[in-house]
This record gives sequence, structure tokens and C-alpha cells, in this order.
Amino acid sequence: MPLPKAELHLHIEGTLEPELAFELAARNGVTLPYTDTDALREAYRFEDLQSFLDLYYELMAVLRTEQDFADLANAYLARAAAQGVRHAEIFFDPQAHLARGVAMGTVVEGLWRALGSSEADHGVSTKLIMCFLRDESAESALATLEAAKPYLDRITGVGLDSAEVGHPPVKFREVYEAAAVLGLRRVAHAGEEGPPEYITEALDVLGVERVDHGLRCMEDPALVERLVRERIPLTLCPLSNVRLRTVDTLADHPLPAMLDAGLLCTVNSDDPAYFGGYAGDNVAAVHEALGLSRDRLRELARNSFLASFLEDDEERRAR
Ligand code: ADE
Ligand code: ZN
Repeated sequence: MPLPKAELHLHIEGTLEPELAFELAARNGVTLPYTDTDALREAYRFEDLQSFLDLYYELMAVLRTEQDFADLANAYLARAAAQGVRHAEIFFDPQAHLARGVAMGTVVEGLWRALGSSEADHGVSTKLIMCFLRDESAESALATLEAAKPYLDRITGVGLDSAEVGHPPVKFREVYEAAAVLGLRRVAHAGEEGPPEYITEALDVLGVERVDHGLRCMEDPALVERLVRERIPLTLCPLSNVRLRTVDTLADHPLPAMLDAGLLCTVNSDDPAYFGGYAGDNVAAVHEALGLSRDRLRELARNSFLASFLEDDEERRAR
């Protein structure tokens, strides 16, 4: 049996498997520019983050109704449960849907059809984190937060994702301040392709409690020391890093060095339908490629719950 774990870095739109993409396309009368699932899988050869994002946003065209979002989330939760995930903190990208004329309510209520009964249906507790697209404007992020206000009982926190380089965290100071006033938890992608300075800025300017990826902190020893001292969790995604070429091969991944440095690392899947594996697959892959000991694997599983936004009583139940 896989070790029980929490998944803390997972874009629900990135769980759209080719088979479901074609099923939803047929259901919604959407034509995809690929003849079949094999042809679509052929497109999963990425040069960098942007080349992945282009396909990720293109395929979202098939997500139109509440039921589509419910089916997407249920499929993810079933797969995650089979790999030992007991708790999932799930990102979604509302701006990518609002821009296509899909309302915030359709997205949140649709996801909630699956998340609301996930403990009973899959044995997985969940939290929802709404991400702002950093290549969109600060005004658009503020409007998105406003549109989410009727649904805040279902949203635990805010995040920041999409194309990183050239879009530093400081651009989103105001919306993060507003989110904090609303009692939302704060995370942000930083140091995936962007420089270590973006990690520092996410901490100091956005007040994030957890850093998504954070890989490039290793270029700045003083930052590593700070992350260790302040016990800031990093949500690493090893298979994603290989597919998006932020590391050459899994054997080159800095995870062992990061654990040795005392960083609070977790292992997650990011966009599993695109990057070749779900949470358990990521753990198995680093175990094999990096020769992590059983103790290290237990540490990663423990870290995933420690780094989660579960309250103590929820955490005991989830483990
Ligand atoms: N959106 C979905 N996956 C992402 C990633 N790995 N980095 C930034 N934005 C994303
Ligand atoms: Zn991500």
C-alpha cells in the first residue's frame, strides 16, 4: 500500500486526461484540433513552461458545464485515492474560464459537486485554492477576487500561477492584501522558471505561507537558510520539472540536497495528465531515480500533512 499523503500542488485543469477531453468535446460539440487521443498525446512534448501552458489553455475549451467540472474532479480524486492521497488542496484557474464565458459559479459549484462528497466517495478530504494568472493584469486579479466573493465559503486560499518570468509577485500586492483581509490563506508559484528573488518577494510582499515549486531557492544560500528557519514549505513537482525542462533528468533533481539542507519539501504532481504521473507516481519516481531511503519517504509523507492547511483535528482524521 502507498504511504498516506496529502497533495498540495495540483491544478485541476491539469488532470484532464486525453480520453476525458475527447468525451467532453463530444458532449459539448467542441472540435479539438487532434484526430484522436494518440495524436493529442503526441503534443505532450514541451520545451518549457509556456509551451505546456499553450496546450493546457487550449484544451480547457472542452470544460463548459458544472457537470464537466464535477466529472474532471471526480476522475482526479479516484486516481489520487488509489495512490494513497488522503487530502488534496486543489488549484483552479477561474480567469481561464471566465475569459471563455464560463461563469465563476459554474466552475466552483461544478467542482464542489465532486469535492463536497469526496470524503464519502473517495476517502479524500479537500480544500480549494483559487489561482490568479500572473500573465494577466493586477486589475483582472482584483475583479476575479470580487467575482469569487459569493463562493468564499468553498475557497480556502489564493495562489498565483501561469507564465512566471517577467511577472514578479509584486504585481499582485494589492489583491493578496485584499485576500488576507478576507481571511484567505496565501500561496504562490515562485522559483519554478523565475529567479530566487521572486521567492523572497512572494514571502515579503504577498505574505505567502507556502511556496509552490521554489526549486531555484538553491541558487541563494541565504534564502535557503531563511526558508529552513521559518519552516516555509515548498511544494515540489519532480516529474513536472523534467517535462518542462527545469531539470535535465530526474537523477539531477535537487530534492535530496534540499532535504539535506533541512527544507520542508513535499512531492506533488502539478498537472499529472500532462507530465506522466499522479502524486504516488512522483514519489515512486524520485524513490527510484534518487535512491531516497524509506525514512526520507516517510519524512516527505509527514511533511505533506504538516504543510497542509488542515486543522489539527482534520489532520489526525486524514492521516
Ligand atoms: N499552471 C498549471 N501548471 C503550472 C505550472 N507548472 N506553473 C505555472 N502555472 C501553471
Ligand atoms: Zn503548478
